[in-house]
Amino acid sequence: APTGSLIVVSNRQPYRHEYETDQSGESEKTADSGRSITVDEPTGGLTAGLDPVVQQTDGTWIAWGDGEADFDVVDDNDCVAVPPDEEAYTLRRIDLCEEAVDSYYYGFSNRVLWPLCHGFPDLTEDRANDFDWYRTVNERFADAVADHADAESIVWLQDYHFALAPRMIREAVPQGTTIAQFWHVPWPGPSTFRYCPAGGNLLEGLLGNDLLGFHVDRYVDRFLECVDRFLPAATVDRNRGTVRYDGTTTQVVATPMGVDARSYDQTARSIDEEAFASLRSEHDVPHPDDAVIGIGVDRLDYTKGIPERLAGLERFFERYPDWRGEFTFVQKATLSRTDIPVYERHGELVRSEVERINSRFGTDDWQPIVYTESYLEEEQLCALYRAADTMLVSPLVDGMNLVAQEYVAASVEETGDTLLLSDRAGAHELLGTHAITIDPTDIDGIANRLADALAMPIGERRNRMRTLRDRVFDADLERWMSVQFDWIARVRNDPDRRL
Ligand code: G6P
Repeated sequence: APTGSLIVVSNRQPYRHEYETDQSGESEKTADSGRSITVDEPTGGLTAGLDPVVQQTDGTWIAWGDGEADFDVVDDNDCVAVPPDEEAYTLRRIDLCEEAVDSYYYGFSNRVLWPLCHGFPDLTEDRANDFDWYRTVNERFADAVADHADAESIVWLQDYHFALAPRMIREAVPQGTTIAQFWHVPWPGPSTFRYCPAGGNLLEGLLGNDLLGFHVDRYVDRFLECVDRFLPAATVDRNRGTVRYDGTTTQVVATPMGVDARSYDQTARSIDEEAFASLRSEHDVPHPDDAVIGIGVDRLDYTKGIPERLAGLERFFERYPDWRGEFTFVQKATLSRTDIPVYERHGELVRSEVERINSRFGTDDWQPIVYTESYLEEEQLCALYRAADTMLVSPLVDGMNLVAQEYVAASVEETGDTLLLSDRAGAHELLGTHAITIDPTDIDGIANRLADALAMPIGERRNRMRTLRDRVFDADLERWMSVQFDWIARVRNDPDRRL
């Protein structure tokens, strides 16, 4: 952990306060003061991973308070001590009105930056006021940072929701404060970035950072190209990975993120019969003794290549009819950003394709695809990982893809599971040589590679999985953090950074 107080900034918060719901799932209709409040624990890679680090540093975490009861538990400064039982650090919540959420989160962040960074400029929707709200919300976060920062502080921003904040923060905090950011999604090339509304402002904003991290070299290179092209006043040093602009030097680095591999490994090892039984009764997942199982686990997002994957599965059952009745594919999809029409339409497409394929091949006692949008606890998720013989990770574009790494960490059986991995995910740089590479748009390829995976001799499967596991354990979340903090220490001690 770093010296100096740590201030983490992210859109999603690590703890959310909600009112207790009764059996029917409805909030209890008593007066607010009388309602009991529950706390959602952090789930998902980033918030769960950073939480213990911030706990050690007695730091501050600033995030959007999106829970129903969030602002009924904070003090006058919108702060609450967390975790609820151990009170190790301060969570400062930013209260966003509906219009702000619609424009900053559902608007500029997810209707412009998300599609653009993933290379879908056609899906961007540049609505009036969205960028202004994005700037206003970035300002509010920057103001909050300034309340907590001193010359020793390290401010660490997460992701594409805060492209403008670093420069705003720079102007509001003491000289010595170190500002770093990690961009969790890809960075597009200049031919895509040129469609970005206010692109120059975003670059200027990001160059308020002392350190800017991406998952892989490709995104670093593209970022530097964009700066070169769209911000002529900046001096780019490609060899050192630095940009000098308006009195600040920004070090740009590739530091691939990992998962808490040990925790997935442990949970997977603890899975018992009961967990498989509950997967069967609650989610229709066949027992691993009764079927060969493939899985997909994704947010329901158009970048994840789910329709193409389903088409690949349909082709697989056409071409390899012996697998009908023997192989079941379980697709777990998590609803996401459903207020955005592209997401809603995409969800409808996925559901109707599943239905069509199931009615084409399904029989009285077998469905080719089991589809669920229900929430899975970490233990159930690990039971699903354990039940699976193979996983298909086929995004059209993905900054990293942590699910592929989670699956590897949870593949504790010596039988050797296989991983089919898109060559367009950041994770492919880490796992590509020992996963089975797929082109996510090549339907025949997906079908054939899946058949190869299922026919692969056990010795080869085992060897591949051993190497995958070594890589995932070596490049785990703890390692990612320590590399981040080493870089932060380096830029902090660089005497030239603010000349
Ligand atoms: C991606 C982004 C994260 C985001 C997550 C879930 O992984 O990089 O910043 O939190 O998706 O999306 P949501 O919009 O629900 O936070």
